[in-house]
Amino acid sequence: MSNGEITDILVHLADESGYGIFQVKNERFTYVSSSFSRIFGYSKEELLNVGFESLIHPSWKNAVLTEMQKPGFQSCTFKALRKNGEEIFINVVTSKTRDKEDHIVTGYVNEMVYGLGFTEKEIEAIMHIFLNSIGDFVFLMNEHGRVIFANNPYGFGSLKTQTLVGKKPEDILPEKFSNRFYKALEENQKGKIAEYEVELRIEGKTRYFHVKQSPIMLNMRYRGVVLVVRDITEIRKAYKKLEKSESKYRSLFEHVPVGLYTTTPEGDIVNFNPQSSLILGYSQEELKVRKASDFYVDKAEREKWLKELLKKGSVEREFRMRRKDGRIIWLKDTSRIRKDEHGKVYIEGSLQDITELKNLEASLLENLRKMEKLFDSTVMALSSAVEVRDLYTAGHQRRVTQLAVEIAKEMGLENRIKALRIAGLLHDIGKIAIPSDILTKPTRLTEVEYMLVKHHPVTGYQILKKIEFPWPVATIVLQHHERLDGSGYPQGLKDGDILIEARIIAVADVVEAISSHRPYRPALGISVALDEIKKNRGTLYDRDVVDACIEVFKRGFEFPSS
Ligand SMILES: [Fe+2]
Repeated sequence: MSNGEITDILVHLADESGYGIFQVKNERFTYVSSSFSRIFGYSKEELLNVGFESLIHPSWKNAVLTEMQKPGFQSCTFKALRKNGEEIFINVVTSKTRDKEDHIVTGYVNEMVYGLGFTEKEIEAIMHIFLNSIGDFVFLMNEHGRVIFANNPYGFGSLKTQTLVGKKPEDILPEKFSNRFYKALEENQKGKIAEYEVELRIEGKTRYFHVKQSPIMLNMRYRGVVLVVRDITEIRKAYKKLEKSESKYRSLFEHVPVGLYTTTPEGDIVNFNPQSSLILGYSQEELKVRKASDFYVDKAEREKWLKELLKKGSVEREFRMRRKDGRIIWLKDTSRIRKDEHGKVYIEGSLQDITELKNLEASLLENLRKMEKLFDSTVMALSSAVEVRDLYTAGHQRRVTQLAVEIAKEMGLENRIKALRIAGLLHDIGKIAIPSDILTKPTRLTEVEYMLVKHHPVTGYQILKKIEFPWPVATIVLQHHERLDGSGYPQGLKDGDILIEARIIAVADVVEAISSHRPYRPALGISVALDEIKKNRGTLYDRDVVDACIEVFKRGFEFPSS
């Protein structure tokens, strides 16, 4: 294949490729592809008679030709003219070679730029629409700092942007702003972007703006600046609010009289307030390098708590820690699990030194225990005061109490046991006012003597009502000889008017009395006693109490010997 034939094929390919391919020899076109002639609106023949220069927009000619004179491949974007005078932007890639004395430039027009299908005027209109639809102020300024374009963003409808064109910053902005502009301009002229914030009074209110001032560099030459001015007043306000609330929180965190801490589940101390270091006696620096488990008296306790905390999400506890000075303190800790935005688990908690409270609690408990002992001894002493006067019935009140307590347990009345115990031990305290010879009289009592004996519940009541028991002890004692049918004394109460404790003591009292020795008769035994209550079940004695009493003996209850 001859060179000519190869050239023909290449020319054909170039024509069919769709690219705007061209060749220039000594400033004149020697070849243009069909696409090239379509882009510029000339026929191929017309183009072969004009120079490449005539396609470049006059204002761009010098810059473009200088660029294209450079050796090797060059890429250049510039304004060109179509045959009908329409201005278009094109990107041309060229390669400059030399054939003998001829300067040859081969290249192609980048259809990407041409292919946008917009004229310069249309692009300018689009830019206006775009710039007016964004929320920022955009100013274009030429190299002398004069406004050549200013948009009118949403929210600033009253602004007449066209009046700004041709003005310099000092004509339209406060001095503080224009000074800042010129300082940034020095950076722009070196090809650098400058960013700064300014504060302006607008309609009596302070507004804050962020300014991004970028240089317009065309063909490596500084041609002006673009200012994007964003109103950041609301962001500033929100930030200040956040700062204020953060500082409030920080102040609370620093000064609250409770130790606050954040750790990882592994025990690394992430954060703590000054009170935490005070509680543990370590300086803040010392605490930072410690592990939470270092302070535990019992390290296994931490493992147990951690397991519970991870399961429940929050735990309240009291536990012991060792201070730096070795002193062991009691702490109350309320802790909870918190996850950060990445899902990492932290433990947040509050510590209160309750050592003093714990000591106080222990001494109070000790005192209470002593008081209870004292109380019990007093009741026992009172109880025996009556019994020393009547040796035959010595131990009667104690035995009645034991049976009464068992009956109450059988009836599921555990909450009445304390009252029953005191009332049982003191139920005959009123007999203290009866002459001992009547109490121990081996023969039948006279009417008067019997009346005197029957008064003992009232005397007991009068003695005990002066004592502030947390239970109705005096009333129980008053009612312990009452009977369901109203035949009892001293008030002749019936059924529900008699306290359950009094009904229990009544049964226990009768059973103990019958089964024991009396001055006027020998002991009759348990079976006679139980027959008596069975016989009068529901008439004199409470049915449930009788049933419970029988059950207690069935289970093997025995009165202890006096
Ligand atoms: Fe009695």
